[in-house]
Formats: sequence, structure tokens, C-alpha cells
Amino acid sequence: MKIELLDANINKIKADFEAILIVGKKIDHKFVKDSDKFKELNYDGGSNLLLLESKRLYIGVKELGYDQIRLAMSQIYNTLKNYNVKTIKISSYVYKCTTKTYQAVVEGFVLGSYEFNKYKSEAKKSKIEKIFISTDEYSGKKVKIEKAKLALKSGKIIAKATNFAKDGVNEIPEIYTPLKMAKEALKLAKKHSNIECKVYDKKFLKKERMNAFLMVNRASVHDPYMIHLKYTPKNKSKKRVVFVGKGLTYDSGGLSLKPASSMLTMKCDKSGALAAMAIIKAAAELKLPFEIHAVLGATENMIGGDAYKPDDVIITRSGISVEVRNTDAEGRLVLADCLDWAQELKPDILIDMATLTGACVVGLGEFTIGLLGRNEEFKAEYKRVASDSGELMNSLEFNDHLRECIKSKIADISNTATTRYGGTTTAGLFLEQFIKEENRDNWIHMDIAGPAYIERAWGYNQYGASGAGVRANLYYLQSLAREEK
Ligand code: BES
Ligand code: ZN
Ligand code: ZN
Repeated sequence: MKIELLDANINKIKADFEAILIVGKKIDHKFVKDSDKFKELNYDGGSNLLLLESKRLYIGVKELGYDQIRLAMSQIYNTLKNYNVKTIKISSYVYKCTTKTYQAVVEGFVLGSYEFNKYKSEAKKSKIEKIFISTDEYSGKKVKIEKAKLALKSGKIIAKATNFAKDGVNEIPEIYTPLKMAKEALKLAKKHSNIECKVYDKKFLKKERMNAFLMVNRASVHDPYMIHLKYTPKNKSKKRVVFVGKGLTYDSGGLSLKPASSMLTMKCDKSGALAAMAIIKAAAELKLPFEIHAVLGATENMIGGDAYKPDDVIITRSGISVEVRNTDAEGRLVLADCLDWAQELKPDILIDMATLTGACVVGLGEFTIGLLGRNEEFKAEYKRVASDSGELMNSLEFNDHLRECIKSKIADISNTATTRYGGTTTAGLFLEQFIKEENRDNWIHMDIAGPAYIERAWGYNQYGASGAGVRANLYYLQSLAREEK
């Protein structure tokens, strides 16, 4: 599917179908062409209307926000893909600032049209080939075409990176092993001259005393890998941003085995790592002006005679000892060692992404990312700019009472808290222990357990992986880049 911007009046563009947005039930807008039909059908603009004879599709939106635009575009695609429609035309609907609107338009189409049908013997293919966007603008103003074209390009990069993450997360655990993740990362570096990739094996992890990471891996037949991707901008970078991703290619819970129903979907436990990899891919294509790293901790969490046990004590890479009270709280163990290693890169900004706690899904719902960290101002600023991506985020605050709850009687800390409550925050507080003082105010932990894997499709998200964290971080980085200019 191609999306093309045409500096022409919408009526001059030839296409099989036209899509028109009705904003806030304003059915007398100049874009509306079927007023008589509206009256006849008693259509008030509050829903969608498909007119097959006139070949027009009306989409009712409450207002022109970036996410309403994305959703509308996804609805256009998913309504018309079932018909013999090859080309669609649509006018422009500029909201706030031109660039992000065009970005949102493309994101809506590219995200909304994603399908994972590798394992279907018969996959229905959409006939839609081209979308034409006319510069005719809703408010009557003229769109700056060069800027809009650039925005279309970045929207495509961001949405495709999100779909790249979805592809990896959706892949089955039989195929997507830690080695597969390493190979995918190497492939990415081979494709882009501004990306480098280093893969560290078990021998290296042993040498580095990454015992927490190694213990989680022990009962798996697949070796663990720590994968380091680095994107270097052409000009000297003003900032170094480091992402760390939880890459559990399968989480059975280990000896503290998950119940059967919770184990299902645990191929999604690699979502943090895939999001970080996708961010590097997009950063290289967007040519962002920062040095950006991704450190991925790839392993399975399995059972067997060699499995690590509740009662074990691990001396982590940082020297902090951890009492294992539940082998299903494995993500924080892998991250503890990866975060410790990643800080040697001397980040100006450090962001980790992980499907870390079921408590986050319970507390915030399945649509929302949990934002944690010590620096409330940084979190608020991050949320403010990253929210334009359409990803939902809620900030959770640390406190000293919960800090007490991860203390251990026999080691420095415990991998589970003494309270059942506040599980997302106590997991965040566990990670905080591995963040060096000089990095604590520049660190954000994103718990993506809720939105990473979707069991009931919503918005422009299909069943399965959503690529959670990719767009939020790219929008954040884009905003940082604008600030630097
Ligand atoms: N990978 C899970 C968290 C998860 C749950 C991700 C639901 C996606 C959807 C994580 O490793 C886990 O099992 N956490 C435990 C921690 C507990 C033992 C302290 C949990 O949330 O139950
Ligand atoms: Zn677990
Ligand atoms: Zn896990």
C-alpha cells in the first residue's frame, strides 16, 4: 500500500473511493457531498456511513485529535479492504500542527492494516494499493507541502517500526528463541550502515558475573544472549539515550510455575526487547540527532532439574545480593544485570521497557503503560510529549513504605515484595536499586505488560502484539530533536 500526497483539489483526483471525515457531527461542511442521502437515511454524522453507489465513506469523529485521525484512517482501510477498492482519496484534516497530523494519517493506515497471518494456510489479501491525500484542507488553509511530505515519511517509518516489533512478538516461541533475536538484531545492523550490533554469549555473561541473567536462563535448552545495538548519527550527537529491553522469549514462570491460562500469551514477554530494537531501526531511518543504544536481555524462563529455585540467593553483576522468593519474578533479575551493564555506556537518558508485572494490567487496565521512576518532573514531561503518539500512559509514584517491602531477611533485597499490593511499584523499586545515583533522575521504567499483547482488538490494534512503547519513545525522541534544533 502506497500513500501519496497530491497538490490538487480532491475532485480532480481519480480514485475508486473517497473517504470523508465528519468532525463533531458538522454535516454542513464543504467536504460533505451527500446531504440529500443523509436526510433520506437520517444520518447525523455521529457514526460511519458507507455509500456504495456514490462510492463515498463517511467517518464520524468527535474531534480532530491525532489519535482520532489514526483511528479514522484505520477504519477507512478496514471497511474498504473487503470490497473491490484499489485506490482511495481523502482530503487533509490538519490538527494543531501540520507535521504530526500527516504523521498520524500514515500511522493510522499502516498500523490499522497490519496482519499476522504467517500460520494461516489461506490469508485473504486486501486489494487496496494506493491512498491519495489531497492538500485540500478542512479549515480552508493551505498545507505546506514539503513539510507534509516529510511528515508522511516519518509516519511511515514510525508505524513500520511498530509493525516490525509486532512481527517479532507475534512469532511463536519455538521459532523466536534468544538466538533468533540475536540474528534479527545482526540483520538490522547489516541493513543500516549507521547501526552496529554486538551479540554477547553465555561465556561473556559469565565473565561479567551476570549471575541473575544466567540463573533465569539455566533450565532453558536455549542459550541466553545479551544483544547490544547502537545507532550513531552523522553529526556529533548532543545526547546519549540508552534503552534496555526485557527479552523473555518465553516465560513459563519457572519452578514457581504459572497457571496454564496465564502461561498462554507469554511469548509476549519479549515485547520490551522488540520495542527497543524497533526504536533503533526507526531512529536510524529518521536520522535522529542522538546516539541511541538498545541493550536486550534475551532468554527463556523454564523448568527442569537445573532450574533456579525459590530460596536461592544470587549475587548480581552490581554486587547486590538478591533472595529469590519467586522464579516468576524473573524479568527484574534479567533487567538488574542488563541495566547495570548498560550504565557503563554513560547514558544521558536511560529508559527500560518490560512486560514486568501482572499487577500493572490489574491496576491500569490492558490499554495503559505504567511509567515509573524517581524523577516526577521527567516522567510528567515524558508523558506530555509522548502522549501525542496515541499510546496511553499512567505515572505511578514511588514511596518509602513500599521501598521497605522489598527488603530481604537473608540478602540485600528480595525479588518479590512482602505485600501483595502495589506490585508494579515494588517491581520498579527493585529495578531502582540497580540504577546508579547519577542516573536515577534520568531513568524511566515503562511497564508495558498491559498493552503489549492484545487479546481483544481495540482501536487500530489487532489481536496479538501491539508494539507497545515504540511510538511513545519515538515521539519523545522526535520532540527532543526539535528542542535541540
Ligand atoms: N511476564 C510476567 C508479567 C506479565 C503478566 C506480562 C501479564 C504480561 C502479562 C512477569 O515475569 C511475572 O510473571 N511477574 C509476576 C511477578 C510476581 C511473581 C511478583 C506477576 O506479575 O505475577
Ligand atoms: Zn514471570
Ligand atoms: Zn516475565
